Amino acid sequence: MSTDTTPPEDLTPDAAERELERLAQEIRRHDELYYTHSAPELSDAEYDALRRRNEAIEARFPKLKRADSPSERVGAPPASSFAKVRHSRPMLSLGNALNDDDLAEFEGRVRRFLNLGEDEPVVLYGEPKIDGLSATVHYHGGAFVLGATRGDGETGEDVTENLRTLRDLPHTLSGPDVPERLEVRGEVYIGRADFAALNREREADGEEAFVNPRNTASGGLRQIDPTLTAKRRLRFFAHGWGEASEPVGERQGDVLARLAAWGFKLAPLARHCTGLDAARALHREIEDARPGLDFEIDGVVFKVDRLDWQQRLGAAGRAPRWAIAYKFPAEQAETVLHRISISVGRTGALTPVAELEPVYVGGVTVSRATLHNEDEIARKDIRAGDTVVVQRAGDVIPQVVRVIEERRPAESEPFVPPAACPECGSHAVREEGEAVRRCTGGLICPAQALERLRHFVARDAFDIEGLGAKQIEAFYAEGRVKSPADIFDLEEKDGTEEFSKLAELEGWGETSAANLFRAIEARRRISLDRFIHALGIRHVGQTTARLLARRYGTVEEWRAAMEAAAAPEGESPEALTDIDGIGPVVARAIVEFVAEARNDAILDALCQRLDIEPFEAPSTAQSPVAGKRVVFTGKLVRMTRQEAKARAEALGAQVAGSVSRSTDYVVAGEDAGSKLKRAGELGVTVLSEEQWLAVAAGEAPPPAAEPGGEQASDDGG
Ligand code: IVH
Repeated sequence: MSTDTTPPEDLTPDAAERELERLAQEIRRHDELYYTHSAPELSDAEYDALRRRNEAIEARFPKLKRADSPSERVGAPPASSFAKVRHSRPMLSLGNALNDDDLAEFEGRVRRFLNLGEDEPVVLYGEPKIDGLSATVHYHGGAFVLGATRGDGETGEDVTENLRTLRDLPHTLSGPDVPERLEVRGEVYIGRADFAALNREREADGEEAFVNPRNTASGGLRQIDPTLTAKRRLRFFAHGWGEASEPVGERQGDVLARLAAWGFKLAPLARHCTGLDAARALHREIEDARPGLDFEIDGVVFKVDRLDWQQRLGAAGRAPRWAIAYKFPAEQAETVLHRISISVGRTGALTPVAELEPVYVGGVTVSRATLHNEDEIARKDIRAGDTVVVQRAGDVIPQVVRVIEERRPAESEPFVPPAACPECGSHAVREEGEAVRRCTGGLICPAQALERLRHFVARDAFDIEGLGAKQIEAFYAEGRVKSPADIFDLEEKDGTEEFSKLAELEGWGETSAANLFRAIEARRRISLDRFIHALGIRHVGQTTARLLARRYGTVEEWRAAMEAAAAPEGESPEALTDIDGIGPVVARAIVEFVAEARNDAILDALCQRLDIEPFEAPSTAQSPVAGKRVVFTGKLVRMTRQEAKARAEALGAQVAGSVSRSTDYVVAGEDAGSKLKRAGELGVTVLSEEQWLAVAAGEAPPPAAEPGGEQASDDGG
């Protein structure tokens, strides 16, 4: 499971941009797996989570929305073997409701949008939601002329000849008032009995059984040879329409009735519902009927019946405002949990995973399920060897619901969370207030190495031209770059026994290779703050990296201080928290990093290869407070503490969290307490907020600081 877990609100714009790029790639890949190859790797819920994350980041950073944003697309671009068909109107997908409240919210949204009076009923037309794939079929003069898959919603594939093999699709429309031109949309599916028979035949022929009806239908529709499609016994239910040469009706239900009259098959059990109670009743009724149906369904689609209202409601993004899919709750099954394994995410999160005896549930065979975290395991008391109930609904990641305790083996033992990362053996820690345990291995953990490398070369880190995420991934896969220092040996090792010449690799040439080496060379000089940030220490973003760089000045000083903080007999990590802006959690993360010998080796290797420039505060030489150590205390009235701090730093001052002998000024706001007292004890100059502002602005001379201690004798008091 390789999901970044940083909440969108905590992302910097740079990180957000990278994350949007990653998500666009990731979603495109899964779309292709799903639509083009009918071989999804993710559960619907995992896939939806990716899309939701993408949308949340876009909502927070609208300017960073990509031209190829997944939020603008449905599904995958069509595969190349079929001709493309551009849809007359986009083929949309549906929003989901998971419970009665969601359905009520949907109705409320419709009412508000249309500004309906309280007494005005909203009639919904409810239809089973068929678990198949959508297709569109065109008729000219009543004759079937063209059929296409949905594809990406805008453009699908021409599968006319394949669709012609479906018995449910009329070759010619008959009946009253058939429009000259008509496009009908609906769902292609395989019946349950047909699916079972198909698999029996395949097994008898020594072929591998199909996994589920939906994928089998999808694969069947996209056969190059229509006679193979015919063998899959595909069927079709009409549920909508596209363009028509004349109006087809005024209500959803009426139009479907006309489609039936012209020769199309409709799903059973559909009907009008006036009011929410009626809609809920239909949902229950269809759910009850579900086991006895000869086709798979995963919910009920409710559509606003009046077509003029549908028209007014329109669509928001990928989904119409006039329809919603009210899904059924998850299907459940029992199986044996063989063991609990640990998967390490690319950000180091350790996720316990249930390794299950494969079981068919909710339309797929499930053999693994996430157990989320150790608290969840403890709460449900899940153990290796247990018989468990698992569930999977269209939208939910396979889950272990509960243990069947009566079937627990006598010798079973409670789960013990790992103390070390299974990938790299580094210490695994769980921070206070966090549900997950994390590997502290960072740069040395193979599960995280690639992510760390991507971070290392990112725009706000080393920013090496020509060495983006794509190149670093390829170098990593090839083994050319395993750890950050390897980047700086690329040229030296190029064309040696170890590595072939880069210029001869696919996608490279003499010029691009030479350019890359030159760009790497140019980045051997790097500022200390960028360098610290590039290391990807947990919790150390650009701001913290700058605080550290400002405080310690040079890489040698910084490393010495970190090592002192990490040494068992040395100062505790808390010494670092003297720096305003660095709290105990961040301090501990830094110390954990340095305490790991293999990280230290990486730092050594980098320091040997790089020229890390001492930190220079930007153009503050003129500032009267440059280099002064300032502590703010009490309530400030002219600005927030955060702003005061930022301004002071911009002027080259160092803002600390506690008063010591080396403090130059204590700026005391209202109700200042112990720090003010301490300043008095140590003889540190105390300024009011007004005085400080005047000094900082250069309007008043800086008061002569009382003689304090040495720079380095900061006692953190
Ligand atoms: S209406 C504009 N009705 O569900 C609304 N869709 O999750 C488009 N589906 O792409 C769809 N049964 O493939 C509609 N009775 C039904 C449906 C149905 C299944 C599928 C359809 C759609 C998907 C959305």
